Amino acid sequence: MYYLDASKEALNEEYALVKKEWDDVKAKGLSLDMSRGKPEKRQLDLCGEMMTILKTPEDCKNENGFDVRNYGLPTGIPELKRLFAAVMGVGEKEIFTGGNSSLNFMYNLIVDGMAIGFPESEKPWGKYDKIRFLCPAPGYDRHFGICQHLGIEMITIPMLPTGPDMNMIEKLVSEDETIKGIWCVPKYSNPTGITFSDETVRRFASLSPKAKDFKIFWDNAYLVHDLYDEHDRVLNIHEEAKKTGKGNMIFSFMSTSKITLAGGGVCFVASSEENIAWITKTLSLEGLGYDKVNQLRHMRYFKNVEGVYAVMKKHADILRPKFESVLKEFNQGFGDTGIARYIAPKGGYFISLNVLPGTAKRTWALAKEIGVTLTNVGATFPYGIDPQDENLRIAPSNVLPEDAADIAHYVTVCARLAALEKLLEK
Ligand SMILES: Cc1ncc(COP(=O)(O)O)c(C=O)c1O
Repeated sequence: MYYLDASKEALNEEYALVKKEWDDVKAKGLSLDMSRGKPEKRQLDLCGEMMTILKTPEDCKNENGFDVRNYGLPTGIPELKRLFAAVMGVGEKEIFTGGNSSLNFMYNLIVDGMAIGFPESEKPWGKYDKIRFLCPAPGYDRHFGICQHLGIEMITIPMLPTGPDMNMIEKLVSEDETIKGIWCVPKYSNPTGITFSDETVRRFASLSPKAKDFKIFWDNAYLVHDLYDEHDRVLNIHEEAKKTGKGNMIFSFMSTSKITLAGGGVCFVASSEENIAWITKTLSLEGLGYDKVNQLRHMRYFKNVEGVYAVMKKHADILRPKFESVLKEFNQGFGDTGIARYIAPKGGYFISLNVLPGTAKRTWALAKEIGVTLTNVGATFPYGIDPQDENLRIAPSNVLPEDAADIAHYVTVCARLAALEKLLEK
């Protein structure tokens, strides 16, 4: 039944049915969680052999015979840098190897911007009364959390099927010198699942911001996280920026958090040679380089670029059935009600569900009441406020395969009940 123009009588009948189903589910006393995009245990087990791959001191020598247990090679071991430079589409001098969290790297870079400024900065960002970041939304809650924590004002940019609204971005950055950065998740965006179009990437690489030290934080967290052989591709922004002479404006990031271990991977930042030299110098004061033993473990495990893609296929085989179960339930549960919008992403970790505007919080609360935890409503927007109260981030990765369909079904029951309550003004 199409809820949006159904008669009051029909809606009341439907309400009684859906409420009964909701009551029945509540009586089961469930405890299920679909709130965070973590890998599940089988995924973590995939790289089991990596844990014991270095057995003797002799094993700890890299391709040049360098003992990775010691200080040195602050930008990372060359063979792993080469491997991930190839994955990220940059040169060997355009990549830096960090610790186990790319988010940590993003945070540190922004703190550096605040405290000392970037090479092009007239003064550190922290010396301005206010600086601003553009935040395409729905987006990644932790990006917004970094801005909020550091007192950076956030300007919401709508997400379109092609990526963030570039007309709005071009206009804003050209006019306001205090706009210093933008967050982007260009492939299988968290949570919308969309991949930026080629035109969007080219427009990013051609931006002419008023602030000379404007930076694009290109978080390529899902660069190799395809669910299908036929998958999305995102244009190489570093190559595009070389054509426009704007390579220093871009920092891109990825990590092996969802390739090997979320709590024990390796992260990478790619940028111009100049920027990588600047990062290397700055970080030489912060520490003497990151965990090279873990870098070598990763290198021995992957062996080469094909090794990375082979692992990703195994992840896809674990994740795909859960995504497909959720989507099947959504298709069945929402049917032709007209109250839900979502796309089937070809990769990444999320499905973004837009319910009837004004009912996301209520859907979340109804789910909570029956024992289903979902990501907090608003988390996908700056300041935790979803202006339309419509977006729910669905994270199928860390639920048991046999639970995925049930949880998705319960979500449809809660969203339908919330919609009926609103339409009936209950
Ligand atoms: C878009 C995005 N960036 C970064 C991260 C975290 O990456 P890392 O584990 O490398 O810090 C996540 C994790 O969910 C993410 O979704």
